[in-house]
Amino acid sequence: MKWALVTGADRGVGLSLVKGLLERGYSVFAGHYAGSGEELKLLEEASAERLRVLPLDISDADSVGKALEAVAAATDRLDILINNGAILGDMQATVEDELDFEEMDRVFRVNALGSLRMSNGLIGPVMASGSKMIVNISSEAGSIGSCWRNSWYAYCMSKAALNMQSQLIHNQISPQGGKVMVIHPGHVQTYMQGKLDVSGSLTPDESAGHILRLVDERLAPDYTGEGLTLIDYEGRTLPW
Ligand SMILES: NC(=O)c1ccc[n+]([C@@H]2O[C@H](COP(=O)([O-])OP(=O)(O)OC[C@H]3O[C@@H](n4cnc5c(N)ncnc54)[C@H](OP(=O)(O)O)[C@@H]3O)[C@@H](O)[C@H]2O)c1
Repeated sequence: MKWALVTGADRGVGLSLVKGLLERGYSVFAGHYAGSGEELKLLEEASAERLRVLPLDISDADSVGKALEAVAAATDRLDILINNGAILGDMQATVEDELDFEEMDRVFRVNALGSLRMSNGLIGPVMASGSKMIVNISSEAGSIGSCWRNSWYAYCMSKAALNMQSQLIHNQISPQGGKVMVIHPGHVQTYMQGKLDVSGSLTPDESAGHILRLVDERLAPDYTGEGLTLIDYEGRTLPW
């Protein structure tokens, strides 16, 4: 049996990743945060116990601790951890405006530290598994080399930190066969901005389909790629 865990799975790309992993035959832990969790509940009922929904706030040590206990009770191996849960924060304020540092603190605790908390807590089961894979859902907004914005401080900086975190984890686990991917999922029609972003070029299902195809490629025995780069949903390398 192969296990995967997806954070921030109530909606958007996370929910679609859960669906795609179930279709691929994985048993899946899905992190449920603040939403109603209605779609996850329906999926869970239809999944013949292959989907387990876990209450999970990745920014909270107690919540993560309880989720890790639930994982440990079910399996000592986790093939794929997908750190997807994230928040956006303010998109308008520039350095010449009043910046909301408390909100930035929250964004960092979720986007940068929440993913690390999960990878840290689950590294044992990940490295004990066959696939040994951590997928960090990042963003082109975290790329310093292609940065054009003059605002979105919390989001851009937290995703840049996630990119660095991915490289640090890669450096540690790749000699032991560990695999890290750090992926920009495209501009996706989700509710991340508080309302449906209809300007996105991809649906969540399309984005998740692309991401899981890249995961399949990375897990294939004939995979020949080397090193770690920030890639987009089509596998194109973006500047760090
Ligand atoms: N949409 C885009 O165009 C785009 C572009 C680049 C990168 N991304 C990245 O893609 C990933 C998925 O985003 P999305 O577009 O699908 O947005 P989304 O629909 O808002 O999904 C984000 C998920 O994270 C959850 N979440 C928020 N705070 C959390 C916490 N403290 N602990 C655990 N989960 C938490 C949310 O839960 P609730 O629903 O309950 O609030 C939601 O399910 C994110 O990493 C995002 O940064 C998205």
